[in-house]
Amino acid sequence: QDTGCLSIVVLGASGDLAKKKTFPALYNLYRQGFIQSSEVHIFGYARTKISDDELRNRIRGYLIHGKESSSQDEDLSKFLQLIKYVNGSYDGEEGFRLLDKEISEHEISKNSHGGTSRRLFYLALPPSVYPSVSKMIRNYCMNKSDLGGWTRIVVEKPFGKDLDSAEELSSELGELFDEKQIYRIDHYLGKELVQNLLVLRFANRFFLPLWNRDNIANVQIVFREDFGTEGRGGYFDEYGIIRDIIQNHLLQVLCLVAMEKPVSLRPEHIRDEKVKVLQSVLPISMEEVVLGQYEGYKDDSTVSDQSNTPTFATVVLRIHNERWEGVPFILKAGKALNSRKADIRVQFKDVPGDIFKCKKQGRNEFVIRLQPKEAMYMKLTVKQPGLEMSTIQSELDLSYGQRYQDVSIPEAYERLILDTIRGDQQHFVRRDELKAAWEIFTPMLHKIDEGELKPLPYKPGSRGPAEADELLAKAGYVQTHGYIWIPPTL
Ligand code: BG6
Repeated sequence: QDTGCLSIVVLGASGDLAKKKTFPALYNLYRQGFIQSSEVHIFGYARTKISDDELRNRIRGYLIHGKESSSQDEDLSKFLQLIKYVNGSYDGEEGFRLLDKEISEHEISKNSHGGTSRRLFYLALPPSVYPSVSKMIRNYCMNKSDLGGWTRIVVEKPFGKDLDSAEELSSELGELFDEKQIYRIDHYLGKELVQNLLVLRFANRFFLPLWNRDNIANVQIVFREDFGTEGRGGYFDEYGIIRDIIQNHLLQVLCLVAMEKPVSLRPEHIRDEKVKVLQSVLPISMEEVVLGQYEGYKDDSTVSDQSNTPTFATVVLRIHNERWEGVPFILKAGKALNSRKADIRVQFKDVPGDIFKCKKQGRNEFVIRLQPKEAMYMKLTVKQPGLEMSTIQSELDLSYGQRYQDVSIPEAYERLILDTIRGDQQHFVRRDELKAAWEIFTPMLHKIDEGELKPLPYKPGSRGPAEADELLAKAGYVQTHGYIWIPPTL
């Protein structure tokens, strides 16, 4: 099943996602030998009428990083030669018949010594065309079963806008493909430190007894960007920060932080546990939500003047189970803030019967920085070095740049595309998981869409609305004053 001819079809080949993420990821896989010219062919498919070379030229610039050596130049040319362009509409059979013909020809030429037909369709497309495109693939482009192999499709969010629309989309796809052929990408699941969460939690004796309501006071999962919706206002205004970041990326991270230990590392075992956590989340209380919209957001000509779309949100989720009852999980995401980073912050409770009076020093925290500069550090209290017996906050620090100097951390998309080729669904969202995720957020999203909940204005470049910090404090988060973690310099 895993050898023979591999055809990777990027639908929406001239779009932003394909250029910025899909093709660069494929190129990196190629450079590292994970996909090889002896077996792979890449097809770009889109509506625009362009030649193979025009497509190659359009993506070339996105594949080059820094100054290229001549051997890299050669790699690049060889890679680009693997790409062929097919043009056609997203709902007419003609283009897809042509695509099938091209793929089949390639399979015949590569499989002259026998081999399978593996077809991977990557839908780098707006969701409005998913149903028609998947129908066309199903009708005209499936792998030729007499050769063995498989057909898989990779889809990207947004998977609908609320529970009903997502379920409708899922049923449409479900009628055409089996769940094991569908790969729903959430690229946060491909990030190094997100992938590390299961190892950290379940392979370390340190954490096992501490990871529960008896010891943990609150958990924050935070995403910040220091730029606005530049160039994507039209898309963003229809979706907003909750659908864009929180309902998918941050919620996926929450699952991995909160889930029980899976029976094994088999994808279904892991995904079963994630679904259970999602199903244990209580309905969101509107008292535990702060929404914001940065000033100037509506100046974008693609954004409506009346827009009620949040560009910032802090939402407290409560997990109703034995491990987490009473522990707030605070999800926070915002555009146009004062910094760009994503981290998970697990704050522990105060030490009972404190004899050092060190409460003012702040609490133990375990911080996992997903980006930039991957790191994890534990904030802890130590004796202030010197003659006096006084205490101070310090840290145990594992900064990847320093600890793993010769390792380059793969891009999320690179890893995930490799998984789709290998048939590993562990890091992809299953249909019931998606449904459970929408169930949590749909009531609140409807309230926002109907204008019942309004975002507060905040200044671009700020921390977001002050009310969000107040909510954090109300949820029990204790900020440490006077302590700043300084990432080590090499
Ligand atoms: C995307 C969102 O899914 O994730 C974008 O649509 C956001 O709005 C991006 O900028 C952030 O991804 P990363 O990997 O840069 O954190």
